[in-house]
Amino acid sequence: MQPLIKTTGIQLSFGGVIAADNIDFELHSGERLAVIGQNGAGKTTFINICTGYLKPQAGKIYFDGTDITAMTPRKIVRMGLGRSFQLPQLFTEHTVRECIQIAAARQNARLTAFKPLADTVDAHEVESTLELVGLREDGDALSSDLPEGKRKLLDVAMALALRPKLIIMDEPTSGVASEDKHGLMQTVMNALDERKVTSWFVEHDVDIVAQYATRVAAWINGAIVADGSPDEVLNDPRIKSEVLGN
Ligand SMILES: Nc1ncnc2c1ncn2[C@@H]1O[C@H](COP(=O)(O)OP(=O)(O)O)[C@@H](O)[C@H]1O
Ligand SMILES: [Mg+2]
Repeated sequence: MQPLIKTTGIQLSFGGVIAADNIDFELHSGERLAVIGQNGAGKTTFINICTGYLKPQAGKIYFDGTDITAMTPRKIVRMGLGRSFQLPQLFTEHTVRECIQIAAARQNARLTAFKPLADTVDAHEVESTLELVGLREDGDALSSDLPEGKRKLLDVAMALALRPKLIIMDEPTSGVASEDKHGLMQTVMNALDERKVTSWFVEHDVDIVAQYATRVAAWINGAIVADGSPDEVLNDPRIKSEVLGN
């Protein structure tokens, strides 16, 4: 089976810092990949490269068999590669429902100043996305009034509104109280399963990684130093001492 995403020889340095060091990587449909690594290891840089926000100095990125290396983030999103952010990128002056409507309308390139927003998107689709992440009751709330856990869910819902094949989530549980992390991940993963979306998420909490990932990749200094089953990678002595710090 052709990988959903594949990179070859990805390189990117910032001044003297090698943030991506010759990364060859593949992710297949149906996988749930957790990426671990200390701060500054290059996890976000690699996500930014795969989603078009940063251009590599060398290497290629293929999504679903197409070379996307030179494409804009917007074009990449339209191809079915969605993402959520460590700090949710919401439309803070809009309601929760409107945020999803805007996201869906953008995907269809139907967002114009001349038509009411609600007329440009499929209302049933918007409600089903709200329901999917448990935000139906919050539809009329201003997105800026949501607690952090729900802001994270809304960010994921906005990515899901684009009907992606793959969603990359950069630290979906960061900033969320530890007792709420499992509930958040359970909701997100159920939603992704329901929509048959492949996922890749950056996560620091080992319990969350062990529970929700089918595969783990560990980053050190811009390179993938371990990649395998959660059991294998989380018990690797080098990963335990250099990445997990125990
Ligand atoms: N826009 C940038 N300009 C300069 N250096 C950057 C930039 N983005 C990231 N870096 C550097 O690249 C390295 C990897 O950063 P990052 O990808 O954010 O790591 P992680 O997400 O694993 O914490 C770090 O040393 C960081 O300081
Ligand atoms: Mg990061």
